[in-house]
Amino acid sequence: MATRMTSTATTTSAEEMYDALAARLGDVLPDFELRHKAEIAAEINRLKAERGAVILGHNYMEPALFHSVCDFKGDSLELSRLAATVAGDPIVFCGVRFMAETAKILNPGKTVLLPTARGGCSLAESITASDVRRLKKRFPGVPVVTYVNTYADVKAETDICCTSGNAVQVVESLDSDRVIFLPDEFLAKNVARETGKRVIFPTVNGNSSSASDGGELQYEMVGWRGRCEVHEQFTPEDIATVRRQFPDVMVLAHPECPPEVVDASDFAGSTSAMVRAVQESSAERYLLLTECSMADNIVAENPEKEMVRLCSVRCPHMNEITLENVRDALLHDRWPVDVPEPSRTRARASIERMLEIG
Ligand code: 13P
Ligand code: SF4
Repeated sequence: MATRMTSTATTTSAEEMYDALAARLGDVLPDFELRHKAEIAAEINRLKAERGAVILGHNYMEPALFHSVCDFKGDSLELSRLAATVAGDPIVFCGVRFMAETAKILNPGKTVLLPTARGGCSLAESITASDVRRLKKRFPGVPVVTYVNTYADVKAETDICCTSGNAVQVVESLDSDRVIFLPDEFLAKNVARETGKRVIFPTVNGNSSSASDGGELQYEMVGWRGRCEVHEQFTPEDIATVRRQFPDVMVLAHPECPPEVVDASDFAGSTSAMVRAVQESSAERYLLLTECSMADNIVAENPEKEMVRLCSVRCPHMNEITLENVRDALLHDRWPVDVPEPSRTRARASIERMLEIG
């Protein structure tokens, strides 16, 4: 799914917004909720126009927000690319903190607002800059690839960033037998398999290392034990159970899922790659192993597609972003994201190297 401007993103009358949302989400949301959300969305679009703001929305945003106020939508890579060039100030980032930080790193002169005071991520919180410095000391000269799901001070210690959409390309672009790949254990294992590498998980303080799927000194990727609290919950048994009930289901997994889950799936890719795969497939129904809102967002644009939902697994951090919080962000300049120097400049170099790769 290419990032794009939505037709509703400029609608400022509550009645028109209600009509547009009802056409998209009338089968997903009750009418009274649509009316309530349409009023807030129309107010947001008025405020946005008054302030010259632009709203970027990650694919995980809840359906009413996703389909009403976002000027551009996409996965982490698409939104990073957009953040580098987008017009509009302030940038309101509907996502989590590490994403808003990336926008700020690329736009130091603009105000970047994250409509929540928190907006965490279990992966970003799994590693610190001093962890990376210790790893670099232990593996001198080995290039460090860091998933964008990290904070700016960690990116600042990194040679190059990657997202789930380009991790394989980024690793393959490095002229090195060995790569430090942080912090997602499962993404590292999935990328290692695609690139024909092995992964080890060293203990930072001691000398020992536990080989996950390879013998000593045969490894080429040094990993970290960070996990996405959402994607680590899916299991091959979930897939088997759903396949028993719906033999014709197409299963799509995010590469933050465990490798055995990716193996048992029909497709693995970034959030936008999953959206595109569903749009291009003629399967009867789909199971998305990722944040549940995305299934609603796909159905809203492709009403003929049937989704099997595993909505007990949610990202609490992405779900902090509500229409009410976006309105308050524009009304009260909440919550400005700051990335101090020298981290910003060093992190920017790492993000820009990634963006150059394509
Ligand atoms: P994408 O880069 O695939 O959009 O994923 C971001 C994320 O946080 C997945 O949990
Ligand atoms: Fe982080 Fe996982 Fe939430 Fe994505 S889904 S923001 S990786 S906790």
